[in-house]
Amino acid sequence: MMNAVRIHEYGPPEALCFERVPRPAAGPGEVLIRVRAAGVNPGDWQMRSGWAAEKFGLSLTLPFTPGYDLAGVVEETGPGAERYLAGDRVFGMTATAGAYAEYAAVPESRLAPLPAALDYVHAAGVPMSAFTAWTAVHEQSILTPGQTALINGVSGGVGHYAVQFAKLEGARVIAVTSGRNRTFAQSLGADEVFDYTTDDWVELEGAADAVIDTVGGEWTDALVRSVRQGGTLVPVGWGQYSQALAETIGVRVQKLLMAPFEAARLEWIGELLSAGDLHVEIGAEMRLLEAVRAHALSESRRARGKIVLRTEA
Ligand SMILES: NC(=O)c1ccc[n+]([C@@H]2O[C@H](COP(=O)([O-])OP(=O)(O)OC[C@H]3O[C@@H](n4cnc5c(N)ncnc54)[C@H](OP(=O)(O)O)[C@@H]3O)[C@@H](O)[C@H]2O)c1
Repeated sequence: MMNAVRIHEYGPPEALCFERVPRPAAGPGEVLIRVRAAGVNPGDWQMRSGWAAEKFGLSLTLPFTPGYDLAGVVEETGPGAERYLAGDRVFGMTATAGAYAEYAAVPESRLAPLPAALDYVHAAGVPMSAFTAWTAVHEQSILTPGQTALINGVSGGVGHYAVQFAKLEGARVIAVTSGRNRTFAQSLGADEVFDYTTDDWVELEGAADAVIDTVGGEWTDALVRSVRQGGTLVPVGWGQYSQALAETIGVRVQKLLMAPFEAARLEWIGELLSAGDLHVEIGAEMRLLEAVRAHALSESRRARGKIVLRTEA
């Protein structure tokens, strides 16, 4: 048996229950991970609340254990799993949730070796957000060195990676954030900071070759206007972007993608982190049994960087 967080029915953060459940076994091609830390992503509460099912048809059979990002130690390997040995330190993403638990069975293809310089908590703050930011910057933004990227929501899980990836690409970055995160945005490399709580969006009209929007929502016309003619807008979460306005200005609005998992890319991101060329900000570190508080913080949309749950006190 093991401790795990489970959801029996969709609902508020309190729908998360801390329970004793059977320990999973490693199936073919899987390894069983002794989870040391699990990352929290907005997708976790969007699934817990039922919003993801309603909006995108994304649902899991109830009851289920949420969470995808994890870091830990290989406990045992399943039939045909040959990349890792018991005792290896790894990080990665589960295939169908299940990370908020003491053990998780994960396909070995969804893991990478944990670099010596990285601890479990920081590693668990990496996969989903970093992949999403990487895909938005490198595959969807169509940026060339010297061009300007505007990143909306730079202080969040995805945004804080996006600003760093864009700088590594040689872009000039305009960071959109609230004033309390101004210094943080600058520390990540932002060239210019726009405070959405006080500054006037008119100043940003046509300012960017690419806009990466991690905030979304319904009132996004100002963001569309901040893209120059011929530029690109990359939605990272759900948002309503006026196609008519985009066509009038000549802005390409990219499709909302789920960033694919690639072990080699995670290894490369691990190397950047080890070398100090990429920073993962842990805004809040809590214990697994504090998952309710972690979801409430994530859902408030005020978290800075990543929220991570530790399985041990
Ligand atoms: N497509 C995918 O595969 C994928 C993967 C991961 C995430 N996502 C989606 O991407 C979105 C962002 O995820 P995330 O993990 O980065 O979220 P997050 O960490 O929860 O974002 C929190 C940050 O958003 C900022 N923020 C809130 N309202 C803002 C506004 N109006 N303007 C500018 N910044 C604002 C907050 O900064 P302030 O306090 O300074 O406002 C806070 O630091 C979510 O919708 C998530 O579901 C998609």
